[in-house]
Amino acid sequence: MTVAALVPAAGSGVRMAAGAPKALLLLVGEPLLVHAVRALRAVPRVTQIVVAVPPGREFETEELLRPYDVQVVPGGAERSDSVRAALAAVHDDVDLVLVHDAARALAPAAVADRVIDALELGADAVVPVLPVADTVKRVHQDEVTETLDRADLRAVQTPQGFRREVLEQAHAQGRDATDDAGLVELLGRTVRTVPGAEEAFKVTRPFDLRVAEAVLSEGQRG
Ligand code: C5P
Repeated sequence: MTVAALVPAAGSGVRMAAGAPKALLLLVGEPLLVHAVRALRAVPRVTQIVVAVPPGREFETEELLRPYDVQVVPGGAERSDSVRAALAAVHDDVDLVLVHDAARALAPAAVADRVIDALELGADAVVPVLPVADTVKRVHQDEVTETLDRADLRAVQTPQGFRREVLEQAHAQGRDATDDAGLVELLGRTVRTVPGAEEAFKVTRPFDLRVAEAVLSEGQRG
């Protein structure tokens, strides 16, 4: 089966407070987006990569990613708009689509492999997950209203993987969810899980960038 990977990288990075698109922030000298795309290029079954960037940043991103043979499209106001823009550029012969946040710059190729394996075994949609270490509570204003059973909870990462037509239907609903698998759940289709990886954490705040630097320098030493 032919696999494409979409990389939504059009976020403004407000929580990073860096005044620049987060995907273009430098991590040991290279933008997060370059780390993320290089890792996807290390997955032999991925034959096409489409990156969605803030409108106006297409040309510089094409230059930046020239060694990795990607297509660059302008993203949209919401993450789901950026995914839809990238999905529209997927080649006709593609059967399976991965969606991977540029912000998860250190996700190992093994996670993408596990997701593709599950799709090739027949799953409609697959997400990599990790157990949740913290106790998670629902709160209203400053009051706890519920403690969720941690044993049933998972933190969900990317790359998430989909049969192409399932992802297209999910995004055609005109509904909202915080991830692509959430849109598939709204279709009433089953989403399966595979083990994620600690390294696939999302670089969201300045502290995460320091953690990513430490992980990379440890890898280089090792
Ligand atoms: O904001 P958040 O960290 O959830 O964004 C996840 C990913 O979605 C990031 O890689 C970000 O660049 C991307 N994104 C996008 N278009 C938007 C908002 C976020 O491609 N409008």
